Parts: sequence; C-alpha cells; structure tokens
Amino acid sequence: MNNLKRIFSYMKKNTIITLIILTIISTLIGVITPYIIGKAIDNINKNIINLLIVLLIFYIMKLIISIITNNIVIIKSQNILYELRKEVFNKLEQLPLTYFDKNDKGNIMSILTNDIDKINDCLSEVIITIIASIITFIGVTIMMFYMNFILSSIVIITVPLFFIIISKMSKKINDYFMESQNTLGELTSETEEIVSNLKTIKTINKEKYFIRKFDKINEKYKKISINSNMYSYLLLPINIILNNLSNILIIGVGSILVVKGKIEIGSIIAFLSYASMFREPITEVASLSSTIGEAIAGSNRIFEIIDYKIEKNKNNKKLDFKKNIVFKNVKFKYDKKYILKNIDFEIKAKEKIAIIGQTGSGKTTIASLLLKFYKINSGKILIDNIDINDIDIKSLRENIGIVLQENYLFNGTIMENIKYGNKISDEKVIEICKKIGANRFIEKLENGYNTVIDYDASNISNGEKQLISIIRCIVKNPKIVILDEATSDVDLKTEKYIYQGLQELLKNKTSIIIAHRLSTIKNADKIIVIEKGKIIEIGNHNKLIKNKNKYYELYNKQFE
Ligand SMILES: Nc1ncnc2c1ncn2[C@@H]1O[C@H](COP(=O)(O)OP(=O)(O)OP(=O)(O)O)[C@@H](O)[C@H]1O
Ligand SMILES: [Mg+2]
Repeated sequence: MNNLKRIFSYMKKNTIITLIILTIISTLIGVITPYIIGKAIDNINKNIINLLIVLLIFYIMKLIISIITNNIVIIKSQNILYELRKEVFNKLEQLPLTYFDKNDKGNIMSILTNDIDKINDCLSEVIITIIASIITFIGVTIMMFYMNFILSSIVIITVPLFFIIISKMSKKINDYFMESQNTLGELTSETEEIVSNLKTIKTINKEKYFIRKFDKINEKYKKISINSNMYSYLLLPINIILNNLSNILIIGVGSILVVKGKIEIGSIIAFLSYASMFREPITEVASLSSTIGEAIAGSNRIFEIIDYKIEKNKNNKKLDFKKNIVFKNVKFKYDKKYILKNIDFEIKAKEKIAIIGQTGSGKTTIASLLLKFYKINSGKILIDNIDINDIDIKSLRENIGIVLQENYLFNGTIMENIKYGNKISDEKVIEICKKIGANRFIEKLENGYNTVIDYDASNISNGEKQLISIIRCIVKNPKIVILDEATSDVDLKTEKYIYQGLQELLKNKTSIIIAHRLSTIKNADKIIVIEKGKIIEIGNHNKLIKNKNKYYELYNKQFE
C-alpha cells in the first residue's frame, strides 16, 4: 500500500487538490439532480421551466467537469508512467551484473511493460472513483433521510447484505489477479527465452520439449485468467439482481406511502435513483480493489528495482592509466565456491600479457574483475596504486577496452556498430579495418560499411562479428585492451593476419590477451597460466618452455 501512496506522490499536490475539488462539485450535482427531477414530476401541473433550466445547467456543468478531470488524469498519469519507466530504466543501467545473474530478463521486461500498464489502469481510475464514491455515499444518505425516513431505511437495510457478498467476491478476485500477474511474468520470461533461442532449439531438435514447457505455463495462466475474469464478471449480474430486489421494495412501500398521502410520486422516482447511487460506490470500490491489488503488486516490483541499493564509493578517483595493474592475493566467488584463489600478478604499462588455461579456469572472471563487474571477496586489485574500489567506474571503463567472448552487435550499420559514440572519421575507421584485414569482407558486402546488421546479428558470420568487435575496441582508443578469445571463430590464416595488424595497433597500449590457441600469444611479454582458479606459472614463452611444466605440455599438444 505504501508503494501505491508513493506513486501518487509523483503527482503534484495542486493537481490532486484540483481533482478533488472538481470531483466534489460534479458528485454533488449528481446527488442533487434526482431530487430536482422528483420535484419537477411533483409539480408537473405547474410552471417547471425554472427547474428544467437548472437541470440543463447541471448536466452541462457535469459534462464540462468530466472532460476537464479526464484530461488532467490522462496527462498526469502518463507523466507518472513516463517518470517510472525512466527511473526503472536508469536504474537497470546502473545495476551490478550480480543483479542480472539472479533476475531473469523476461521478468524485468514484464516489469517494464505489464506492471507499468497495471499502474496506468489504477492511476486513471482510482483517485476520481474513490473521491466520487465517498461523496456520493454521504450526499445520497443526507438527501434520502431529508426526503423520507422509511424509504431510506429500506435502502440502507439492503446494504450490509450487499456489502458482504461484494467484498467476499472482491477478495477472491484480488487473489486471482495477484496470481495471474505473477504467472504473466513467468509467461513473458518463457516466451522471451524461447524466442531468443529459437535457432538453438531447432538445432537440438527440441521444439516439442519447449512447446510442452511453454504449454504448461500457458495453461496455468489460462486457468487463473478464467477464474479471475469469471468472478469479476459475476459482480455485474449479482449487482443487477440486488438492485432490482430493492427497486421492488421501494416501489411497493413507496406506493403505500403515496396512497396514505405521506409522500408524492416524484419521491419514489428520486428514491429509485438514490438507491442505485447508494450502492454504486460499494461496487465501484470493491471492483477497484482488484485494480488496486494489481497496481500494488506491480508497484512493489517496480520500486524493488528503483530502490535497489547500489554501493556507492565516496572515493571516486579518476584514473589515467600510466604505471601498472597489480592483483594482490585476490580471492573471488560468484556464489559459494571460490572461483579465483590467491591470484597474484603484476602487469606493467605497455606490457603484452597473455592469460591461458582450461575452460572454466577463471580467465574471463579475471577480466570481469578488472572492469569492476563484480567485487572481489578478499585481496586487492590496484591500478596505478589506487585500489580499484576507489576508482570511478566510468573513468575506469574509459581506460579499458574489452572484446568479450560473447559479442553483441546492435541493430544498425557496420560503421555505426564500429563507431558507436566515438568521434572518429570514416577514413580512420577504414584504415584500421585495413590493418587487421576486415576491409576484405566488409567491402564484399552489398552496401559495404553501410550494411545494416540485424538485431541478432544473424546476417554476418561469427568470425566477422568478432572482427567488428575488435575494431570497435581499437576505435575507442583505450589505454588497456583486453581481448577475451577475440578470434576464436576466425580461421587460422585470418587470425594470423589480425594479430599482425594488432601488433602495430596495440604498440603503445597495455594488452591482456586471453586465448586458447597458443600460437597467437607466443610473443607476449608475460604468459600467465591458470588452473582451477590458481596461477600455476608465469613467464615468457622461452622461460615456460624451459620449465617443462603445464605450458610446455599444452604447447606441445597443440603443435603435435
Ligand atoms: N555469472 C556467473 N555466476 C556464477 N558462476 C559463474 C559466472 N560466470 C562464470 N562462472 C563460473 O566461474 C568459473 C570460471 O568461469 P570463467 O568464465 O572465468 O572461465 P574461463 O576460464 O573464461 O573459461 P572459458 O575458457 O571457457 O572462457 C566457471 O566454473 C563458471 O561456471
Ligand atoms: Mg572465458
């Protein structure tokens, strides 16, 4: 509930007050009109033109007010949704990777779309309905008792029964809706997973398995939706029956009162309106409770992201890399098991470093730590003698360029993908491409550098994707370059060509190259061999060959 309040706090006080005043006026007009209609009927033989003019003015006023309030609500609630989407999105960009390791993509998507939608429904209905309901309830009660005690009592006696039935049903509806919201999240996340992995699913021939998996959640969502919708549609017929019963009572008792000369016919007509107006707020508020319930569930999920605490370090030191990178006794675990144990090494500026080791030994993890994607559990990482924790993240990442194992290209032309955000001329880009041999494939494409890459980069090969990523990294012109299996998908000949080009392009840079193919890293100043999260050897090629240890073994195996 608190989070719902918080959503309304996005609205300015003045707006809320204006809405309240407008709603009060419009509701009061609504409450008085049946009385005037009753009076007009009672005075049908006399001059009722004045009453009719008043009625006309009231109707027009009500129409104008409703147009104004609707416009305010639409504009203000869209503004709030815009703000919420912006806040969630900004936060997502700042969240640490650990957050995404734990929360799946589909669910986050669902928050940005479905949950925001639910809040929209709530915002556009809640304020006005609640205020109008309260005022109608009070106003109608006063008017009825002012007109006739007995008829008022009849209307009021039917209310508790009505209230119990409606509120019991609303609670049920509410529960179903909460459940349906959660299931919808699951469904979105499953859909997202299947759609983005469609190719893999087809290759492993597991369409049936995934269809069944999807079907299960789809079925669950269907059942919950049927229940929740059936219950909420039942509200209306029950409402009608209860209304009709009370109308019969009012007409019956009313006509006795008319015969006895206690009231006039107009009052019966007015009372019929009042009776339904009296119950309306109860149904309204009861049915709103599901909208509110969904909005609360949605807002909880939204604010969970917005409020996610990001550890801020006050010592946001700028980095202008000059000296060295030092790992001192670094230990790290993603979850429970230590992935890196006692990692110790130094990289001097402008050195060419290679990290090698078996799959899963922790090479990519070392690179991630250097980029501060994760926090280390013990030990220290120092860059130019500054603790990495004290370095401003943005400044750190400006100093480092990385080509990841898994590359991601954006929807756009090759040129855009290479440049993105960096001020560099087309000529310069083409020059770099030539140096590492990428121009050969790019120029063969129909539109050359202006060829558009699909959103999932399915129209270029993996090796080509890697080439583009390497160029993108060079174009950024960082002081430290990390290549994590950056050429694993290109053929040996092309790879050789790339590394020849890179030698020149990385001349004045510090580089860390992670590779499985040892031929590419033979020339490194220092080769770090890791096994199961531990460094087992450090040295240049000649030294490690002489050592006749793991490196020697690996090297010989590859060149057998
Ligand atoms: N986000 C993560 N959450 C939990 N565990 C992870 C995560 N990323 C990697 N790991 C685990 O950490 C270990 C080291 O992974 P890492 O990616 O550093 O290996 P690698 O040496 O780069 O292997 P490869 O040669 O296959 O790229 C692996 O056992 C992996 O399962
Ligand atoms: Mg790796």
